[in-house]
Amino acid sequence: MISAVCQGVSSNFEGFKITTVRTTRFKRVEVGYTRHGVGECLVLLHGFLEDSSMWDGFVANHSDQFDMITVDLLGHGSSGCTGYVHTMEEQAEAVLTVLKAENIEKCVMIGHSMGGYVTLAFAELYPERLTGFGLFHSTAYRDSEAKKADRERAVNAIMDHPDMFVELTIPRLFASNRHDEMKAEIEAAIDLAKGHSAQGIIANARGMKERKDQSEFLRKSSVPILFVHGNEDPILSNELARKQTLGCSHITTHFMDGVGHMGHSEAPEKCFNAISNFMNELVVNG
Ligand code: MLT
Repeated sequence: MISAVCQGVSSNFEGFKITTVRTTRFKRVEVGYTRHGVGECLVLLHGFLEDSSMWDGFVANHSDQFDMITVDLLGHGSSGCTGYVHTMEEQAEAVLTVLKAENIEKCVMIGHSMGGYVTLAFAELYPERLTGFGLFHSTAYRDSEAKKADRERAVNAIMDHPDMFVELTIPRLFASNRHDEMKAEIEAAIDLAKGHSAQGIIANARGMKERKDQSEFLRKSSVPILFVHGNEDPILSNELARKQTLGCSHITTHFMDGVGHMGHSEAPEKCFNAISNFMNELVVNG
């Protein structure tokens, strides 16, 4: 069976499982993805230590509006690792392989955090393929020198203690004053992250460390862009989030109070409305 299966219907974005995964080959490995729904094509990319299931709630609620493809990026979920560094460009190439396998010429692409870095690489490499794109808790800036040093330390830690790395990293992605309230979501995210191989985690941490600055590219984009940011995001300060979008009429921004880096868990309704409104405007404006 090839098509994705959506089980359970609810209006609060919880309790869904998009179960069946399609696969294609990229280099020597399998890349897993799902396709579900009808309408404009929307490609959804997850972040570091996540997989395509982060979008299940959105997919289940919008299958009558959009034709949605959710991809497991290299080294995540059902997708293999091609080596020990997955650059954002290589990830973008893997996503292109999925689009070709599905005969998709053009789409809108939205990426969460690392998925946003891949989206930027894709937009630069294959501009003819996108009618719009979105950064969901993500940034066009490259890593600072301090962040690069953190990544190096992380790579060493992952080699010896991958589970401990995950247990320390995941809670820090949620708004710090909501950890009690979000306990179940944090635990679920930790469990999922522990399923990743150490090679996958390392290859992606290194790829993020190497990524280039795309802030000029963002500012000069000729297609509409969605930018969703949580004001309590511990990964990206409000100052940097605002700076990269300031004065850009082609960028639709949403800055949300009480939300960290994990809007799909922390404020699913608000975040998913921002995405569907962006899609609907693109359709109306052709
Ligand atoms: C992510 O959520 O994808 C990562 O935290 C992004 C990053 O580390 O830069």
